[in-house]
Amino acid sequence: MSGELVDGVVPPSVSNRANVLEVENLRVDFPTDDGLVRAVRGLSYTLAPREVLGIVGESGSGKSVASLAVMGLLPKNARVSGQVRFGDENLLGLSESALARYRGEHIAMIFQDPMTSLNPVYTVGWQIAEAIRAHRNVSQRAALEKAVELLRLVGIPQAADRVHNYPHEFSGGMRQRAVIACAIANDPDVIIADEPTTALDVTVQAQVLESLRIARERTGAAMILITHDLGVVAGQADRVLVMYAGKPVEVGTADDVFYRPRMPYTLGLLGSLPRLDVGGRRRLTPIQGSPPSLINLPPGCPFAPRCPMRQPICQQEEPELRPTDHPGHLAACHFSDSLVGVAPSDLFRPTARDDVLPEDAGDSAAPEVTA
Ligand SMILES: Nc1ncnc2c1ncn2[C@@H]1O[C@H](COP(=O)(O)OP(=O)(O)OP(=O)(O)O)[C@@H](O)[C@H]1O
Ligand code: SF4
Ligand SMILES: [Mg+2]
Repeated sequence: MSGELVDGVVPPSVSNRANVLEVENLRVDFPTDDGLVRAVRGLSYTLAPREVLGIVGESGSGKSVASLAVMGLLPKNARVSGQVRFGDENLLGLSESALARYRGEHIAMIFQDPMTSLNPVYTVGWQIAEAIRAHRNVSQRAALEKAVELLRLVGIPQAADRVHNYPHEFSGGMRQRAVIACAIANDPDVIIADEPTTALDVTVQAQVLESLRIARERTGAAMILITHDLGVVAGQADRVLVMYAGKPVEVGTADDVFYRPRMPYTLGLLGSLPRLDVGGRRRLTPIQGSPPSLINLPPGCPFAPRCPMRQPICQQEEPELRPTDHPGHLAACHFSDSLVGVAPSDLFRPTARDDVLPEDAGDSAAPEVTA
């Protein structure tokens, strides 16, 4: 890449192409003693230069496995098929050494725990400098100077001094910002951030998200922001992809997904966002039940056991991801048309008291659907 990052000059990189990353029909299975785990069951998406795609879903929906597949970081027993196109290359066909060149230089990954990326025995500055020197022929001194600039960019105070600190001398939020600095050290085209703020408290979350935004804007990188919390993608993502049981169940612009959701599961996620409502009380509307096992999934819609709108057909046929009434907005639900104008509270009942689950989510509040 261009190396002009800290001057604020956005490298031309791949911006003359329509998409920087294209994932097509990605499938990942894990053979286990209990049977075949179908962790990702056909995921396709595109990522345009500078675009932020939020991938949202509950624990176990396949978000991390899908992004590890893109990076070639899955365990050896994983069976992966489909295409992950970066430029003219299908990354799934590359050798480990060829893939290693893409990691860091073209696609960088940020994990939930910054200590996954930082080594406790080296200073933060040394590690950023080494990340730079792994891909560029620059002196240790020049690399360290750039490390200081990067730390400053992501909001580390007294960066010139802090660059000599070890990771344990940083707070959790500062460590994650140091990882962001490391991730952008080589001007990647794509940053994949997997739950980058989940381990942090709310105030620090906001600071780290702001550092990510600055990092993204200064590098011109596109980003995949993975989270179980729709609240984290609000205000960050251009488009949102909702995953359930290894498949995308809704894809659209952030406005499509937040203001005109067409899949009951998305409404459930929206309804379970913490709100400061009437009287300032925090009220939650959780989705009852839990996601299905990915071994021997029964036929039909995987959300059916939890869906207040289910009909007999839902237990027989798994709905395809189909266009809705808005261009580019797709949803996988036999009755997505019935959701026009439906609010989360019409489908999922609010709890009576703070953080207390309702006894029965019931079907009575569900809108009528015609099979
Ligand atoms: N190495 C493995 N062997 C067997 N199953 C696995 C393996 N790694 C992941 N899985 C399974 O794949 C499914 C998807 O896991 P994944 O980690 O992608 O979920 P996730 O959406 O990232 O969840 P979380 O929000 O908890 O991070 C889960 O059912 C998980 O148990
Ligand atoms: S297909 Fe049926 S069960 Fe699945 S989300 Fe739609 S209404 Fe609910
Ligand atoms: Mg995960």
